[in-house]
Amino acid sequence: MSRLIVISNRVSAPSGSHSGAQGGLAVALEAALREMGGIWFGWSGEQTDVFTGHVNLTRGEGYMTATVGLEEQDIEEYYNGYANRTLWPLFHYRIDLAEYERGFADGYHRANLRFAETVFPLIEPDDMVWVQDYHMIPLGAELRRRRCANRIGFFLHIPWPPRRLLSTLPEAHALVETMFAYDVIGFHTQEWLDSFCEFAAAEMGATIEGDTMLAGGRRIRLLADPIGIDAKEFIALAGSPRARLTHRQMIDSAVGRNMIVGVDRLDYSKGLEERFLGYERFLSEHPEERKELFLLQIAPPSRGSVESYQRIRTTLEGLAGRINGAHADLDWTPIRYVNQGYPRDVLAGVYRAAKIGLVTPLRDGMNLVAKEYVAAQDPEDPGVLILSRFAGAAVQLPEAILVNPHSAEEVSDAIFQALRMPRAERIRRWRAMMDNITGKDVIWWRRRFTDALMEEAMAG
Ligand code: F6P
Repeated sequence: MSRLIVISNRVSAPSGSHSGAQGGLAVALEAALREMGGIWFGWSGEQTDVFTGHVNLTRGEGYMTATVGLEEQDIEEYYNGYANRTLWPLFHYRIDLAEYERGFADGYHRANLRFAETVFPLIEPDDMVWVQDYHMIPLGAELRRRRCANRIGFFLHIPWPPRRLLSTLPEAHALVETMFAYDVIGFHTQEWLDSFCEFAAAEMGATIEGDTMLAGGRRIRLLADPIGIDAKEFIALAGSPRARLTHRQMIDSAVGRNMIVGVDRLDYSKGLEERFLGYERFLSEHPEERKELFLLQIAPPSRGSVESYQRIRTTLEGLAGRINGAHADLDWTPIRYVNQGYPRDVLAGVYRAAKIGLVTPLRDGMNLVAKEYVAAQDPEDPGVLILSRFAGAAVQLPEAILVNPHSAEEVSDAIFQALRMPRAERIRRWRAMMDNITGKDVIWWRRRFTDALMEEAMAG
């Protein structure tokens, strides 16, 4: 049987147990590696004076992690630069924030070349290689240049931008060309896949036949494959002692008020500013409801070396302060704004205590918080999910209250509708969402991808 080589920018240390501290994707990839054996390769997160390609190996349960340090210039130009100041904003439709600098593009290419050079000797002839996300788009092509003949797949965890937006990237053609080196390419939704196909067909002469693309003299299998959560594990987490304790603490601290919860990395794509404004609108439009609820926004800081992230942090602090200043009373604070992360079992308890889950990104590849919020609910008395129609998750969860996150009025109306929703309707909507979440869980997601990669090997 083939081993699996997972390549991603970040690599989780082997957990050994389900401590609840890891993200959903890490849990899924680890499960795949445990089942198939292999290596998880990526950046160690460390800076080295000079790039040596020295690989740090750690043994996990049935697989190894292999990480490599990067030079300061690589980190600046590849991670902070091209990945997070160019591709991230552009792929989230924010060309106003995207920075196009040749130095970033060069650094991105150099880091990917270094990753390829370092991982290539670890790959054996029968291995299946699975490259993850926007940090590593050209990695497959770099492996092919080294005559790597293995099956190589790529999965993008963020949206793919429409053709006209992508055309603003000076290296768009070269970048897309590198993708023709893969055997299988996956996106979370048909919308992102269609945008990719449109660019490849219209700008680069690719031909699409059903779920296959013919480009660069190669045949590439295309997949729209929405990532799920480890539903079983998350349901178990929601019933864990720590989740139950947190649930109790949250209920006590709410003193009879309804809690609305938002949990997001502090990122401009998450629509936090617009969310606060929508909530403020609700407070102004429904003065009778004001002291009956509060918003708990958990937003751990992220990518703090990038200026647009520093700006959003300052903006949100100002906004939360202004809204609290204008509306708070002696015994009531409208927004509890918390800038730190929590383990997933604690979050499960928080979600279960919240009457409303407010998940309103302006654009999101999938959004697993939406799914985790649903999975944590009490089946007899579930809360209501308010979800942005621009998150990949909206395709699978149409029973949520879907909103346009740019419209404060829609967000305000949705909060009102959620507060008034009868229990029978809450249960009906929750049941439908839960069926999807448990049926299309993270194991389903990754099997679909690795099966496709395996089938391509047989066909080839
Ligand atoms: O959504 C893309 C993603 O890479 C996620 O997989 C991850 O949770 C998040 O961004 C973390 O970003 P960073 O590695 O920059 O902290």
